[in-house]
Amino acid sequence: MSPRASESDLASFLHAFQSLSHLAQRQAEADQARGREPLLPALEAHLGVDPRGLAVLTELVSPLRIADADVAIERVVASHGGGTVLGVGGGDQRWHNGLSEILQVAGQWGQFPLGPVDYTTVPVGPDEERATVSYGLHLFRHDDVPVVLLQRGGRPQFGSQPQLEVLTPGDGVAAAVLAEIREAMNAHSVLRGQVVTFTTSSYEPGAGGVTFVRRPRVSAEQVVLPEGLLARVERHVLGIGRHRAELAAAGQHLKRGVLLYGPPGTGKTHTVRHLVGAAQDSTVILLSGRSLQLVTQAADTARALQPAIVVLEDCDLVAEERSHFSSSPLLFEVLDALDGLAADCDVVFLLTTNRADVLEPALAQRPGRVDLAVEIPLPDLRARRALLDLYAADLPFGPGVRDEVAAGAEGTTASFAKELVRRSVLRAVEREGEVGDDDLRTSLEEMMADGGALTRVLLGGAGPVDGQGPASAAGFVSVPGVAPGAGPAASAAASGWEE
Ligand SMILES: Nc1ncnc2c1ncn2[C@@H]1O[C@H](COP(=O)(O)OP(=O)(O)OP(=O)(O)O)[C@@H](O)[C@H]1O
Ligand SMILES: [Mg+2]
Repeated sequence: MSPRASESDLASFLHAFQSLSHLAQRQAEADQARGREPLLPALEAHLGVDPRGLAVLTELVSPLRIADADVAIERVVASHGGGTVLGVGGGDQRWHNGLSEILQVAGQWGQFPLGPVDYTTVPVGPDEERATVSYGLHLFRHDDVPVVLLQRGGRPQFGSQPQLEVLTPGDGVAAAVLAEIREAMNAHSVLRGQVVTFTTSSYEPGAGGVTFVRRPRVSAEQVVLPEGLLARVERHVLGIGRHRAELAAAGQHLKRGVLLYGPPGTGKTHTVRHLVGAAQDSTVILLSGRSLQLVTQAADTARALQPAIVVLEDCDLVAEERSHFSSSPLLFEVLDALDGLAADCDVVFLLTTNRADVLEPALAQRPGRVDLAVEIPLPDLRARRALLDLYAADLPFGPGVRDEVAAGAEGTTASFAKELVRRSVLRAVEREGEVGDDDLRTSLEEMMADGGALTRVLLGGAGPVDGQGPASAAGFVSVPGVAPGAGPAASAAASGWEE
C-alpha cells in the first residue's frame, strides 16, 4: 500500500468514526428524551404553524441587566394577558445551539423534549434576590398573535451572552415585543435608585455582574473640609439636579463632571460617600480598578436611569491601562464616555484621584469633560482640631490637649486623626484604665515618630518620602508600592468605599 493511499484511508476512517460517534450521541439523547413530551408539537399547537418555518429574531442582553430583563418579560407578558413558561430538556447541548437549530434537531431526532424551567438567582438589592429564568420558553399572545420567546442566561465560560430569541408568525411582532421589553427594562429597572458596582468576570470583562451596596449615610458635619468647599461641591453635584427643571427650561446643560483630587486619606472617598448618601433619588454606579473598563456600560445605564451618579474612583490607576474594548488608554475611554452623553442628561461623573499629575495630560487632551475640579487638601490646624473633635466626640480629652495635638500633627491627613484616636483608646484598654489626655499625647508622639516610613506616609505623618518626583512637586504624597504601581484596586470595598 502506498503512503498516499493509507493517508486517505485514515482520513475517511476518521470521518466515518466521527459520524458514528455523533450518531451514537444523538441516539443516546433521543433515548433519554423518549417518553417525555416533545418540544415541537407543543410549540406548533401554540403558534398554529410549524415553528421550523419561522424566522428567529435575537437580541443580546447585557449580563448587568439580567434581572431587569426578567422583570420586563414578566411585565410585558402580563400586559398581554399572561402566558405560560415551558422548560427545555436535553442537557448542556441546549446552550450551544440557537433556537432555530434546536427546533431542527428536535424535529429530526426528538432530542430536546419539554423539561423543567431553569432558574438562576441574581441580586436585586442589598439584601434581596430574584429567581430569574435562565432557560425557558414564554408562550403568550401579543394582540392575538401567538409568540414564543426563549429567555436564556449567559454561559461566560463558553463565551455566550444572555439573550432573547423571538418566534412568531406575525409581521413585525417580534420587533415590537423586543421594543416593549427594552422599554420595560428601563422603566422598571431593579438598579433604579440603588447604589451598585459593576464587576468584571474572569472569562471576559463584559460578562460580570452587579453588586448592590447599601447607600452610605455620612452627614455634612462628619466631613471636615476647608470652609465652603463641601458647599461648592454639593451645589454642583446635587444643586444642579435639584433645579433640573429650571435649568433645562433656561437651556442650561445638566450633565456634569467633577474631579476631587488631593493626597491619600484626606477625604475624597469620604466626600463621595456623603454626596451619594444625600442624593437619595439618584441611581449610583461605582467603578474602581478593573471595573473602570465598564465605563461605557455605566454611562449607558446612567442615561437610562437618570438622575444618576457615576463614581470613578482612583481613576489615575487606569491612566496607562488599555481596555479589552479599545486600543486607547482606559482613561481616555472614561473621558469619552463622559463626552458621549447628551448635555440634557441629569448624570454626574464624579472622579477621584490622588495623582492629579497623572490625570492632567489626559484631561488637557480631552478638555470640557470635567467642569469642576476641587482639591481636597491636607487638613490645616482648624481642620485637624475639628477632626479630633469629630473622632473623639465622646472621649474625655480636654480642650488643651486637643489644641496641642492638633498643632503637633502638622502635615498629617484626616485619616491620621481617626487612627490617632483609636490608638489612644487601645492604649487605655490594654492598660485596663480610662482613656485620658496622656494617651492622646503619647499616641501622637508614637505615630509621628513611627519607625516604619510606609506607615508614616500612609497616614500622612511625615509628608512625602520622595521629595523629587512630579507627584510630590505638585503637593502629593507618593506611596511606594501602593499607588500607582500596585495596579488597580479590585473593588469598591478595596478603595475604602464600605467601612
Ligand atoms: N475630610 C475628612 N473629614 C472627616 N473624616 C475624614 C476626612 N478625610 C478622611 N477621613 C476619614 O479617613 C477615612 C479615609 O479617607 P478617604 O478614604 O476618604 O481618603 P481618600 O482621600 O479617598 O484617600 P485615597 O486617595 O487613598 O483614596 C475616611 O473613611 C474617614 O473616616
Ligand atoms: Mg479614596
